[in-house]
Amino acid sequence: MASKLLLRCATSLVVRSYPGVIRAASTGSASPKSHDKPSTKATPVNMSGNNIDVTERVIIDHNDIKQAYEKLKTMSDGKDAEKWFNQLLWTIARHSAAEELVVYPLLEKTGKTGQQLADKSREDHQKTKEALAAMDGQPMTPELRRKIDTMMADLLEHIAMEEGPGGDLEVLRKGVNKDDLLSEGKSFEKWKLLVPTHAHPNAPDKPPFATVAGFMAAKVDKLRDLFRSFPDQSEVKSNKEQGKQQK
Ligand SMILES: [Fe+2]
Ligand SMILES: [Fe+2]
Repeated sequence: MASKLLLRCATSLVVRSYPGVIRAASTGSASPKSHDKPSTKATPVNMSGNNIDVTERVIIDHNDIKQAYEKLKTMSDGKDAEKWFNQLLWTIARHSAAEELVVYPLLEKTGKTGQQLADKSREDHQKTKEALAAMDGQPMTPELRRKIDTMMADLLEHIAMEEGPGGDLEVLRKGVNKDDLLSEGKSFEKWKLLVPTHAHPNAPDKPPFATVAGFMAAKVDKLRDLFRSFPDQSEVKSNKEQGKQQK
């Protein structure tokens, strides 16, 4: 409840300052550029994403993570590889934080199995956060590539567990009604605009403490992002389209 209240307060602040940001949230943001330069154009009706529930939004993010990683693997070391590495870290950090604030508390409400899955997921996230924090800002080298591959192997296993039979998403689909899944889907996207964009392994991972710590860290992270390079929106979009075609 505390996190819902904080989300309402934070959202109203963002809406007042950047009216386009919350509209953009309903379709998701592909790269930090859309945060820094929020669009003031209205989102077309068929792109509103209001019918995308939280389990579907989680899968969309998982696919974004996989596609950023696949792209990074095709790039030789250098600035382009670093751009996609930054994109990968940014995508994972926001996704993980939003899951901790929205998905895992919801999962816990479904019962004992949900509580156990949420605990296991938080444990997996902690491992990923520690790996990400150790790699963040490093230049692309063969050694860093090995670390990224190890971190991604663990993360892909976690993703498969979340999406697979008896996993987090299946338990949510069975235990939460569709209206709540849809409204939590909207919260999930809104939180992604407000959460930290880098890993913070020492920060709390449950609301309300995660919420407060996240706000403080998010400001610093967004400043850090200003000094990093990221792929353009068009590059991210075309990478997503390629990923869809290869499926
Ligand atoms: Fe997760
Ligand atoms: Fe996930």
